[in-house]
Amino acid sequence: MSSSAIPIQHYAQLDDAECAQRILAAKERLGERLVILGHHYQREEVFHYADFTGDSLKLSRQAATSKAEFIVFCGVHFMAEVADILSRPEQISILPDLSAGCSMADMANLASVEQAWRELAQVLDPDEQVTPVTYINSAADLKAFCGRHGGIVCTSSNARKVLEWSFAQREKVLFFPDQHLGRNTGYTMGIPLEEMVVWDFDLPLGGLSAEQIRAAKVILWKGFCSVHQMFQAEHIDRFKEKFPEAQVISHPESPFEVCRKSDHVGSTEYIINTVRDSAPGSRWLVGTELNLVNRLHQQFKHEGKQVHFMSPTVCMCSTMFRIDPQHLAWTLENLVAGQVVNRIVVPAEEAASARLALERMLEVSP
Ligand code: 13P
Ligand code: SF4
Repeated sequence: MSSSAIPIQHYAQLDDAECAQRILAAKERLGERLVILGHHYQREEVFHYADFTGDSLKLSRQAATSKAEFIVFCGVHFMAEVADILSRPEQISILPDLSAGCSMADMANLASVEQAWRELAQVLDPDEQVTPVTYINSAADLKAFCGRHGGIVCTSSNARKVLEWSFAQREKVLFFPDQHLGRNTGYTMGIPLEEMVVWDFDLPLGGLSAEQIRAAKVILWKGFCSVHQMFQAEHIDRFKEKFPEAQVISHPESPFEVCRKSDHVGSTEYIINTVRDSAPGSRWLVGTELNLVNRLHQQFKHEGKQVHFMSPTVCMCSTMFRIDPQHLAWTLENLVAGQVVNRIVVPAEEAASARLALERMLEVSP
C-alpha cells in the first residue's frame, strides 16, 4: 500500500449501512473505470455490489474481456491472480482483503509439485507420459508449472473436457490440488477407481509403489476443500428418508460417495441454473457452500421451491467471508482518491507460462 493511502483502520467501525452509501458513491464516481466481479460464495452484503457474478470459469472470461481499468475481485486470492494474468498489462486487479485465500489452493505448492515431478521421473518419463492439470484453485506458479510442462488448468465446469484434452496429449494425468474433483471427473469418464491413485506429498514417491504409478491413469494430489469435505453420503440418506421426492445436487469438490448419491453434480453456476430451471414446488438438497445455498433459498422460495443445505453443521468458505463491506469501501474510496491498495501482481515470466495453461483451458472449454 502506498504511504498516502487511507488506512483500513478508518473503516473498521463503519456499519454496513454507511458502507453501502460510500460504496455506491465510489462506484458512481469510478464509473466504467471499475468492474466488480463477485463469486457465488461471496456473502450477500458484498455480493450485491458485483457488476458480474459467476463461477470460476465465467469470472475468468469476464476478467479476460473486461475493459475496466480496475478489476476488484470479491472472491479469493487465486481468482484475483487469474484476473491479473488474463487482463491487459495496464489493467489493475485488486483483492479487497489480502487474507482471503483458499485453503485447498494452499495444499499444493511449487516445491512439492516439482518434487513429485522429479520423483515420478524415477519411474517414468513425466514430460512424455504425464499431463499436469491444475485446478484453477491454485497459486499462479502452479499454473505456470503446467504451462511449462505441456499442462493445463481446469475449473469445476470444464474438468471433463480438460481431462479429455490431457489424455489426448499424454497417457496419464497428475491432477492437483483437489483429489475429489479429479476422482469424480475421472470416474464419470469411465476410469476405474483402481486406476486413480492418491499422491501423498508427505511421503517418498507419494506413498505409492513404482508398480502402482505405472498402472495409474490419474495421479490425484492429496488435497481437498475443507468446506465440501464436510458433506457426507449419510446426510443424503437421512434427507431422502424424509423427502424421497427431493433432488440432490452437489459440487464436484464433494467426496466421491456424495457425488455418486447426487442426482446432479456441477459447478456453482450449474447448480444455480439447475435449481432455477426446475419445476415450481420442487425440493432440493444442495451440497455446496452455505452463502450460495442461502441465496438459492431466498431467490426461489416465491416459486414454492424448497432449498436445503446438505450438512447439519455450518460450512462456509471462511476465507472468502473476509471480503466484507468495510474492505470493499476502503478499496473503492482509495481508488477514488487515486490510491491503489491490495493490487495483485503476478510476475511477468510466471504470468506468461500461467497464461499458456489458462488459454489452453479457455480453448477447450464449452
Ligand atoms: P466454481 O464456482 O468454479 O464452481 O468453484 C467453486 C469454488 O470452490 C471456488 O473456489
Ligand atoms: Fe477454496 Fe473451498 Fe473456499 Fe472454494 S470453497 S475458495 S475451494 S476453501
